[in-house]
Amino acid sequence: MSRNAFIVGTGHAVPDGIITNADLEKIIDTSDEWITKMTGIKERRKADDSTATSDLVTVAVTNAMKVAGWKPEDVQGIIVGTVTPDYYFPSTAALVADRLGMGKIPAYDFEAGCTAFIYGLVQAKAFIESGMMDRMIVVGSDCLTKITNWTDRSSCILFGDGAGAVAVSSEGPGGRLGGYHWGSDGSLGEHLLQPAGGTRKPASLETVEKNEHTIHMNGSRIFKHAVRAMHDSCMEALKMDGTEKKDVDLLVSHQANLRIIDATARALELKPEQVYINIQKYGNTSAASIPMALDEAVRDNTIKESSTVVLAAFGAGLTWGGMILHW
Ligand code: ACO
Repeated sequence: MSRNAFIVGTGHAVPDGIITNADLEKIIDTSDEWITKMTGIKERRKADDSTATSDLVTVAVTNAMKVAGWKPEDVQGIIVGTVTPDYYFPSTAALVADRLGMGKIPAYDFEAGCTAFIYGLVQAKAFIESGMMDRMIVVGSDCLTKITNWTDRSSCILFGDGAGAVAVSSEGPGGRLGGYHWGSDGSLGEHLLQPAGGTRKPASLETVEKNEHTIHMNGSRIFKHAVRAMHDSCMEALKMDGTEKKDVDLLVSHQANLRIIDATARALELKPEQVYINIQKYGNTSAASIPMALDEAVRDNTIKESSTVVLAAFGAGLTWGGMILHW
């Protein structure tokens, strides 16, 4: 009998600190009106100096395990998608597995920018459907405000911090992981990158002075790519799933820009009430945005039994992906 993978628990965490558009008006030449019109964002969360990605992940995973009814020793593996780990090494996943008492299980981080959560679900589907695991945790988490250039008005308005986690099991009921699509194009990588700190340009006084450890983004280029990539990923995932556009109940997409989400929704011919939006509260939380939205949609009953949900994302790499969930 073929095996399936189901999301049986969701959880998220955000730091307490809030930065409103009015706060940004005080440090850069911008306005609440411009940010709201161009992005849909009203406020975002910012981790304080003592909070790192693993701290948010620990809370999100605890919340997801609670819903799943899992004890730490039930978890057979944990993977964390992030571009802002606590350290290059050890991995955030290993730190969290230890902190939560999961034992000596496989734990690793991986990176696919804002698409990471969908990449993580594809990995979980493979592990679980192949029989390698029965219960694992998939996390998307980033603290982008730690690598934001607060003097660059075209990017600093976008980003916020958060973590979202799901418990994935070989046994339902829950959200079954269905058709998917994932891809990348490194030739476009330069349009969204952190230039220094890696082996191409190791950290030095000069790189710090030039602000090269922060996000460098060609916003309009990314925007154009995002609209196409999100649409194509959704269509490919639907095709693999054997599901028609008209059978989709809800779009839970990466929350990067309200205009990108709207364009994807229009392409899928969805009504406004079929699109989950929380960008106004959190901004772009990168790898965390989809699992955070998914958790909110499950908790407020927007996702219920028999819902067909489309996930779609794009991000640094450049990467893109989509997945269909059947609740
Ligand atoms: N306040 C006021 N004006 C601004 C601001 C601001 N914060 N930022 C830019 N502007 C101005 C620009 O200077 C420009 O002015 P000019 O015409 O006088 O030169 C004008 O607004 C238009 O700027 P554009 O950059 O062309 O505006 P655009 O329509 O592209 O919107 C935005 C900018 C919102 C950043 C958009 O490009 C976007 O959302 N892109 C996608 C970015 C994204 O999602 N990145 C994350 C990827 S995911 C990941 O992996 C982290």
